[in-house]
Amino acid sequence: EDAEKSGYDHYMLKEIHEQPASLNQTIHGRFDPTDESITLDDFEPGEFSDISRVEFVACGTSYHAALYGCHLLGQRGIPAYAHRAGEYASNPMPVDDETLVIGVTQSGETADTLESLRRLEDTPARTLALTNVIGSTAARETDDVLYIRAGPEIGVAATKTFSSQVTALALLSERLHRDITGEPSAHSSGLLQSLGALPEQIESILDSDPTAELTRKYQGMDAHFFIGRGIAHPVALEGALKFKEITYEHAEGFAAGQLKHGPLALVTPNTVVIAVFTGDHDEKTLNNVREVQARGASVIGIAPEDATEVAATVDDLIPIPSSTPELNGLLANVQLQLLSYHFANRLERSIDKPRNLAKSVTVE
Ligand code: G6P
Repeated sequence: EDAEKSGYDHYMLKEIHEQPASLNQTIHGRFDPTDESITLDDFEPGEFSDISRVEFVACGTSYHAALYGCHLLGQRGIPAYAHRAGEYASNPMPVDDETLVIGVTQSGETADTLESLRRLEDTPARTLALTNVIGSTAARETDDVLYIRAGPEIGVAATKTFSSQVTALALLSERLHRDITGEPSAHSSGLLQSLGALPEQIESILDSDPTAELTRKYQGMDAHFFIGRGIAHPVALEGALKFKEITYEHAEGFAAGQLKHGPLALVTPNTVVIAVFTGDHDEKTLNNVREVQARGASVIGIAPEDATEVAATVDDLIPIPSSTPELNGLLANVQLQLLSYHFANRLERSIDKPRNLAKSVTVE
């Protein structure tokens, strides 16, 4: 087993460090930066021209990737909604022949996600599996499949597969826009250029890894709240999920604007708030940061390195290289993976096999 970890203490850390390579696999041959064409495997150009809305079904980390996908589609004018598969399986929504339902599932075997997709069998909706595992049940049972090509993931806490899911969804969103409207979206050039730079930018985060230091400063807190707005919202949810899964410490993710509708009552000087910034809506999230600071909480900001006002406001800054706001969320998430890993490692938790959790939940 030690040999399989390639010198890393845990599979999770190995898989975090594999992300530059796994993302290169995800994007390989799927777009050409010179003419900005997108070739998604065997999908013909115009393949999705009849689609008018997208519904996602997914669980856990894959649900957060789906929520991220909703933002990418929404910014391209395509209505999209993400359902928790456990709910959808019991309460499916009306669909028609212009609906594309995407099951996001790393393993392709999660029972709730499979059940949700099966509920659509006798409907006119088109189904697509976004999965990592070739020949998995989701891949076999849906109309179409798009593989994320992240390579095997052993750690129970999903890391590199989230990044590959979001990256594949970014390409698929742009492709849907082109098929539906006949032209690239306003975000197209920025997205494709930034996608090409992403693996190297992640490499630079991994090389500097500034989060280990913070685990000393913030140990023994009562609660860890992760907040974000827009694309930073699913990233905050994913940050909190990863944190609670492997540290067993209390962590919750909130939409930043939701704080004053309840969670603010829980904020004390023994709360740490981790605020995610992508370059979009930063000013509003900074107001939320000031609100929690006024109640004694400390704030760790994760933000693009050129976000000077964020740097001046938060108590500690974890910088990310600057990309497009659409992909800054992915870069911020890599820092959150490292933050959770270092906290859990300091607490000597069972990082690769957290208590009570399974890599793939095959029962409803
Ligand atoms: C379990 C795992 C999570 C994963 C979720 C969905 O809860 O512990 O890491 O995100 O299942 O798995 P899937 O294979 O469908 O992406």
